[in-house]
Amino acid sequence: MPSALIIGASRGIGLGLTQEFISRGWDVVATQRSASLALAATGAQVATVDIDDADTVSALATSLAGKNFDHVLINAGITGGRADTASTVSRDAMAQLFWTNAIAPIRAGRILLPLVKDGGSIGFMSSILGSVGGRQNAWAELYSASKAALNSLTRGFAVQDIGSRDVAVLTLHPGWVKTDMGGPDADIDVATSVKGLAGVITDSIASARARGQRYVDYSGAAITW
Ligand SMILES: NC(=O)c1ccc[n+]([C@@H]2O[C@H](COP(=O)([O-])OP(=O)(O)OC[C@H]3O[C@@H](n4cnc5c(N)ncnc54)[C@H](OP(=O)(O)O)[C@@H]3O)[C@@H](O)[C@H]2O)c1
Repeated sequence: MPSALIIGASRGIGLGLTQEFISRGWDVVATQRSASLALAATGAQVATVDIDDADTVSALATSLAGKNFDHVLINAGITGGRADTASTVSRDAMAQLFWTNAIAPIRAGRILLPLVKDGGSIGFMSSILGSVGGRQNAWAELYSASKAALNSLTRGFAVQDIGSRDVAVLTLHPGWVKTDMGGPDADIDVATSVKGLAGVITDSIASARARGQRYVDYSGAAITW
């Protein structure tokens, strides 16, 4: 059975994807920052990681040494202050947003990459809002900038860190999803998003056409960088 490691699975899309993979018979290790009853109920092996603290990611990697995953997903993310703009945000709030959404995920990716098996893939949960080429408004400008920074870092990761290894890199948009982050007016529910994402991830480990790096949404459609 395929296996996956999901970082940031206490609720929302990470929790939904854990449930989806378990229902498909995958072997899943999933992480929480603090105890999640919903995650405990999935049947996944649960570990504790605060992505902001790379020592906790390293401790997880050590505890999983010898295990090889078909897919590792760095899903954790935050919105930051919704009303903040570049004109109003505090230095600390901006640092936190960029730390959690851009720096910490790449740092975690570098620590966890050795756990991805050859022929597998590693994913970073970005957003369509991180697209620079496709951007035509200033909505959520700081969150969007943090995801654009993540996108840029995943481009370098795909070249420098992957090197000659046969590991695909997915920079993912889950859709606008009804979660604590997406809110009740979002386009799709978690089940729809994670069914699509699970398909995209399965393709990335199973199909020669899906190698390399792709910036895609939950339906597999390419997004402009
Ligand atoms: N929902 C959408 O419409 C949407 C659209 C585009 C992209 N995304 C992205 O998709 C990902 C998941 O979003 P979601 O909608 O499921 O959000 P959510 O419901 O707010 O859940 C966020 C998840 O990230 C975890 N997390 C946050 N900071 C963390 C940290 N420092 N260490 C470890 N875990 C941390 C949370 O854990 P705790 O429970 O401990 O806080 C939670 O499990 C995010 O990267 C988000 O930016 C979402």
